[in-house]
Amino acid sequence: MSATPDDLTRTVLARHENVSDARLAEIIRSLIAHLHAFATEVGLTQDEWNAGIEFLTATGHITDANRQEFILLSDTLGLSMLVDLIDHRTDQGETESTVLGPFWVADAPARDNGAVIARAQDGEPLQVSVRVLGPDGSAVDGAVVDVWQASAQGLYDVQDPAQPKGNLRGRFRSDADGRVELWTVRPAPYPIPDDGPVGRMLRALGRHPWRAAHIHFRIWADGYEPLTTHLFDRASDYLDSDTVFGVKESLIRTLDRVDGTPPAELAAGATQHYRLTNDFVLTPAS
Ligand code: BEZ
Ligand code: FE
Repeated sequence: MSATPDDLTRTVLARHENVSDARLAEIIRSLIAHLHAFATEVGLTQDEWNAGIEFLTATGHITDANRQEFILLSDTLGLSMLVDLIDHRTDQGETESTVLGPFWVADAPARDNGAVIARAQDGEPLQVSVRVLGPDGSAVDGAVVDVWQASAQGLYDVQDPAQPKGNLRGRFRSDADGRVELWTVRPAPYPIPDDGPVGRMLRALGRHPWRAAHIHFRIWADGYEPLTTHLFDRASDYLDSDTVFGVKESLIRTLDRVDGTPPAELAAGATQHYRLTNDFVLTPAS
């Protein structure tokens, strides 16, 4: 008599009963159980299995040092944000985290407090003024604050040959008040790279590739957990349908239009600019 799908699942699980690493055993047994349950539940056909293998193969082929299609797949299926929710719980008012994304670089230019990180053609002038605090409200002096964003045209420097390397990004240090200040441009929504298998998947599903307008922050300070997060523009489109599910209500900020003179290199003659303020509250290291 031929085995049923459930018989086969039990046989495969039994083969993994003696994995010596307990955590590895837990993960692989759960993965097998859920993978088999999925295939059984939808009645996966041989053609569909082939299409899945071809999709994953194409995802591998387009991935290289500059393009990580597997992370994009994880992001667009909500897995990255699920892991973020599971592994970065905040319940004492600490700043919430969100996806890292593919555009962080390890060698962003070191910048002085108050620096201009954008050019006039990158968008409308925006002054960013943030503080890095501990949960008791005390200033964190000397935190490393990495900032990066796309231009108003929706491109990061690493995607855009017309931008100089290091444009719209920088690595700052908080001062004794925990403060970091910089001048940049108002971010705009942009589509994630959609010229590969993930883009084909989104189109097949009738989904758009857009991210809500945001600025990325990554913060490190002695005695605290690293923080990877964004601040979103409350006026942006796609806050409710961000294609990587990265928006959290606590990370949305109003960008106020205020009177003041931005640096001439950013907007010569301007008498107004946008302003973004925020306190980042770090989680003490466990
Ligand atoms: C980003 O915000 O840079 C990003 C995040 C996830 C996927 C693609 C881009
Ligand atoms: Fe981004």
